[in-house]
Amino acid sequence: MGEGAAQTPRKRHVLRTVVIVLAGLFLVMQLVPYGRDHSNPPVTAEPAWDTAQTRDLATTACFDCHSNETEWPWYTNVAPMSWLVQRDVDEGRETLNFSEWDQPQSEEIDEMGEIVLEGEMPPLAYTVIHRPAALSQEDTRALADGLDATIVSSPPVLEEMEEPDEA
Ligand code: HEC
Repeated sequence: MGEGAAQTPRKRHVLRTVVIVLAGLFLVMQLVPYGRDHSNPPVTAEPAWDTAQTRDLATTACFDCHSNETEWPWYTNVAPMSWLVQRDVDEGRETLNFSEWDQPQSEEIDEMGEIVLEGEMPPLAYTVIHRPAALSQEDTRALADGLDATIVSSPPVLEEMEEPDEA
């Protein structure tokens, strides 16, 4: 306890103030409404998966952001984590939604296998927290091949490109 005894009252006062300010900030962040809408809209249509294994791997590695079957662990209720997760899920579903295969998907998804092979998806920050989504090399290849096969046999509707001239 030698170090503690050496602390001056002034240092202790500053430390206490910092802790109180941070705690207050944290509480105020919890009042922001954004990030609490943990909705899972109905599943309207899934692709005709090439195999059950492809679906299993996609469920493990992609469904939290690219489906209407998102799992919302307790920490997704705590700001600022809740804000990051909400943005990922909103943008993820907007780009690619395996639960709404009857709805237009973004054009970017035709390179899905390559994106998975290159390790671009699932995002690193997600796999660090969510270990099961960090697929082995073998599973990554199986998922990439499976997604490409699924897209060929069960092609999505793509979003119409905007035609500026015809506006
Ligand atoms: C933590 C959330 C999250 C997970 C998990 C996730 N994605 Fe994404 N994905 C996003 C977001 C957000 C975007 C859109 C913005 C961007 O490009 O970063 C996106 C974009 C994409 C795109 C469009 C091209 C691109 O790179 O922008 C594809 C294809 C894609 N994801 C496939 C997948 C596949 C396949 C998986 C599973 C192996 C997966 N994603 C897992 C959040 C996620």
